[in-house]
Amino acid sequence: MPLPLPPVIDQIDQTFDASLERLKDLLRIKSISTDSSFDDETRRAGQWIVDQLSEIGFDVSLRDTTGHPMVVAHHEGPEGEDVPHILYYGHYDVQPPDPLELWDSEPFDPTIVDGPRGPRIVARGAVDDKGQLMTFVEAFRAWKSVHGSLPVKITVFIEGEEESGSPSLDPFLKENREELAADVCVVCDTGMWDIDTPAITYMLRGLVYIEATLHGPSHDLHSGMFGGSLHNPCNALCRILGELVDEDGRVQIPGFYDDVLELSDEERTQLSNLGFDGDAYLGELGLKEGFGETGYSMLERLWTRPTCDINGLLGGYTGEGAKTVIGASAMAKISCRLVANQNPQKIYESLVSFLEARTPPGYRWDILQHGNSPAIRVPTESPFLEAALAGLETTYGKKAVLIGTGGSIPLVGSIQEILGFDSLLVGFGLDDDRMHSPNEKFEVKCYRKGIESHAAILHQLASVSRQAMAPT
Ligand code: BES
Ligand code: ZN
Repeated sequence: MPLPLPPVIDQIDQTFDASLERLKDLLRIKSISTDSSFDDETRRAGQWIVDQLSEIGFDVSLRDTTGHPMVVAHHEGPEGEDVPHILYYGHYDVQPPDPLELWDSEPFDPTIVDGPRGPRIVARGAVDDKGQLMTFVEAFRAWKSVHGSLPVKITVFIEGEEESGSPSLDPFLKENREELAADVCVVCDTGMWDIDTPAITYMLRGLVYIEATLHGPSHDLHSGMFGGSLHNPCNALCRILGELVDEDGRVQIPGFYDDVLELSDEERTQLSNLGFDGDAYLGELGLKEGFGETGYSMLERLWTRPTCDINGLLGGYTGEGAKTVIGASAMAKISCRLVANQNPQKIYESLVSFLEARTPPGYRWDILQHGNSPAIRVPTESPFLEAALAGLETTYGKKAVLIGTGGSIPLVGSIQEILGFDSLLVGFGLDDDRMHSPNEKFEVKCYRKGIESHAAILHQLASVSRQAMAPT
C-alpha cells in the first residue's frame, strides 16, 4: 500500500513560500547555454540542483561532458516493494534573454507580478524549464520530509544544453545506458490546455535547423559603383527564401510532404472536439487573422503539419542610418518543424538542395546544422499514463486532456531510440507564458499545482505493479 497523499499535500501548501524562494534562487543564475561567456553560470545552475537533490537525500553528481554538465541522481524506492522505476527529466539551461530592452524587469531578477489569473513569476527560465523542473523536485522534497522515503524508485536526469540543441545528450545516454535505465521517463517541459485544465502531451513535432550563408563578391561593395552589375547576396537570399513557402502556406521544397501521413477523419474530429479558440489565441498576440497551410484548422496546422520558418536574417548594413553597400554575404537561419513519419536527414538534404539549385553562378553556400530530430508520438495507453491522469484529476478535480504541441524535445526521441523506453509528458506551462520571449513568466498557481500534481502522480505510480508492465 502506498503511503498516504494528504499529509504531503498539506506539507506542500504549508511550505510553499520556501518553494517559491528556492525557485527564485535558481532563476537568478544566468545559465544561458548557447553563450559560452556564461559557461560558469551554467555550471553553477547544475551544481545548484545537485545541492538541492543531495539535501533531499538523493545520491547525486554533476557529470562533465564535452558541453555543459549533466545532473544525475538516484533514490531507492520502498524496500522490498514491487514499484516502478521512474526517470525524471528537465533542463536547467535557458534561452538568451535578448532583446533586453523589451523586459519590464531584469530577466535574472525574478519578480512577482499580479496578472489576471493571480500572481506570476517573471524571469528568463520561469516556465522553460526551471519552474517546471522544480515542480517535481519540490514534490520529492515534500514527500521525503513527510514520509522519510519516496514511493517509487527514482532517477533524475537534468541537462544543461536543451536550448542549444543537446549536443552531448546522445553520447551521454549511450555511455550511461545502464545507469539511466528506467521504466518510463517523466518529462516536465510542456504545457496545459488552460490554467484549470491539465494536459498530457502525446505528440511533439521534430526539427531540422540550418544556418545558411550565401557568399558572393570577395568584399563589401559600394552599391552605386557596383549595383546593377552583379547579384547582391542579400537580394538573392531574399528571393530564394521567398520561394520556400507559397501564398497558401505550402512548403515548396521538393518531396517535403512525401512521407507526411494525412489525418484520419477520426483524428480530425478528436482535435476539433477540443474546442480550440483560435480568435482568443491570436488575440493574445495582438492579431485578428492567422496564416498557414490552406485546408487545415489552426490546431491541425500547429500539431500535425510540417512548416518551414526563417528564424533569423543577417546581411548588409544594419546599423543606424544609411550605408549604401552591397554586402559580400548574407545569412539566414531556417528551421522546419517536422511531423510523424518525416525523416529529418531527408528533409535536411532536400532543403540544402533547394538552396543550392538556386545559387547565383559563382556564388557558394556555407551550411551549419543546428538541430536534427524526428517528430515523436508517445503511447496514449499505458499504466503510467493512467497513473498520471489519475494524479492530475485528484489535483485539478477534472480530467486531463491529451494534446499535441508544435514544439520539440529531442530527448524524447533519444530516450526511445537509445534507452528503449517511452516518455510521459506532463507540464504546467500556458500558451501566454512567453517562452523564449521577453517577460517570460510562470503562473504561481501553475507552480503550486504542478508540485501538488507531481506528489499525486508519485502516489499513483506507486500502485503500478512492475509485474503488470512486463511484456507477455
Ligand atoms: N520547452 C520547449 C519545448 C516546448 C515548447 C514544449 C512549446 C511544449 C510547448 C523546449 O525547451 C524547446 O524550446 N525546445 C526547442 C528544441 C530545439 C532547441 C531543438 C524548440 O522546440 O524549439
Ligand atoms: Zn524547455
